Amino acid sequence: MATAKFPPGPKTNLLWDKEANLPKDILGHFHRTVRKFPSISRAMIGPYHYVNISEPAYIEHVFTHPDIYVKGRDNKILRFLLGNGLVTSEGEFWLKQRRLIQPLFHKQRLQSFVQKISESTLTMLTKWESKTGVEIDIHAEMTGVTLDIVSQTLMSTEVKGDFKKLNDALLVVMEGMMNFFRLPAWIPSPRNLKMKKNRAVLFDTIAKIIDERRKSKAVHNDLLTMLMEVEDADTRERMTDVQLRDEVITIFLAGHETTANALSYTFYLLAQHPEIKQRIVDEVKRVIGDNEMSFENLSKLEYTTMVIKESMRLYPPVWGITRDAAKEDVIGGYRIKKGDSIAMSPYAVHRLEKYWENPLKFDPERFLPERMKNIHRYAWFPFGGGQRFCIGNNFAMMEMQIVLALACTQFNFSLAENFKLELEPLVTLRPKHGVMMKLEKN
Ligand code: HEM
Repeated sequence: MATAKFPPGPKTNLLWDKEANLPKDILGHFHRTVRKFPSISRAMIGPYHYVNISEPAYIEHVFTHPDIYVKGRDNKILRFLLGNGLVTSEGEFWLKQRRLIQPLFHKQRLQSFVQKISESTLTMLTKWESKTGVEIDIHAEMTGVTLDIVSQTLMSTEVKGDFKKLNDALLVVMEGMMNFFRLPAWIPSPRNLKMKKNRAVLFDTIAKIIDERRKSKAVHNDLLTMLMEVEDADTRERMTDVQLRDEVITIFLAGHETTANALSYTFYLLAQHPEIKQRIVDEVKRVIGDNEMSFENLSKLEYTTMVIKESMRLYPPVWGITRDAAKEDVIGGYRIKKGDSIAMSPYAVHRLEKYWENPLKFDPERFLPERMKNIHRYAWFPFGGGQRFCIGNNFAMMEMQIVLALACTQFNFSLAENFKLELEPLVTLRPKHGVMMKLEKN
């Protein structure tokens, strides 16, 4: 095994490489690398080796060999915010928590969320009626509605207070976590102190939700109840407050940030393609009409679903996924050294001509089953893969279908004058200056 050669790649350390421009343009770097070194490459970033993989069969190999490829170095950065919750935990503990939380996302449970998701959306749309003709930030709107949806459905609570305050705090923490030149969290540098102060805003929100539930006599059948009541089979102990906080903040953040971004980019694309937006309206009228929304009729919104998939192809909310090699391995004949970090970028792979014809074109029908027949399963992986596949993918798809169906049938969208989308690849792919639009009632 040790005789296999390392993947090709640049000789310079990318952290100092002006052309790579990593600290300022990491998306561009990925985009260029997967073209220059198709399939696989290896480079130094600071003291670490990164193997960049863009060949779908190799991506599948990494996702489906969790004994070799584990959540590693980058995961430690996420722990600053998510502690040891479902996204960041590993091994037996992760498996136990995943089994515990999984039933919340089964189809019959999702059905029970349809009404609440519709209500949150309709409340937002009612507010939009007074905002027609003026510029609004669709990203802020989507952050508000997805936060409301995740807290109402999974925690039976309304997030009181200021969405903007929470969002600003999250932004500071994510910017800090993504900084290439950050100091260890224990060093009281001005940036670390600012990050901790903003993290405290998020922790406080979660603590209040948990505290209110403890005091409440109401019976709920939701994530919070599941987490608070479960006992360890061996020790009969319940989760500690810190464990509880880590799981709740994980679902709270993983469950709204990504979906808000995906919806924002979808509206951004629809504003530029009114004919595609009209097809959504026609489909919703035909399939749902005056009937109530249900999991079943939502699953028949085939065109709307293709629009969402295509939007996540061009703008995957999780733009990069990493693992560390816990053992030696060989991929595509190349040596992977124990300790190497593996980087896989949905953003870069989803835009490769090799797998996607005319990749920059917004073309939802490329997701028609007959056109997808020859496309590798891992040429499109916005929800990751293998055993760490996104637990909330069906929830997110359903939520996006409902928001789009209701918003598109009531409103038309156009981009604000001179608006230019700028992407900000933090932990998620955010629109740096929001998505500014004008609404018009249908
Ligand atoms: C468009 C929306 C979403 C996208 C694009 C997305 C994407 C992802 C991706 C790529 C991963 C895998 C990360 C990795 O392998 O390192 C993941 C994991 C996860 N997602 Fe999502 N997600 C979305 C919505 C949601 C929602 C709505 C929830 C919860 C309500 C959620 C909860 C989670 C959790 C808990 C994990 C960790 C699963 C595990 O490791 O067992 N996500 N997501």
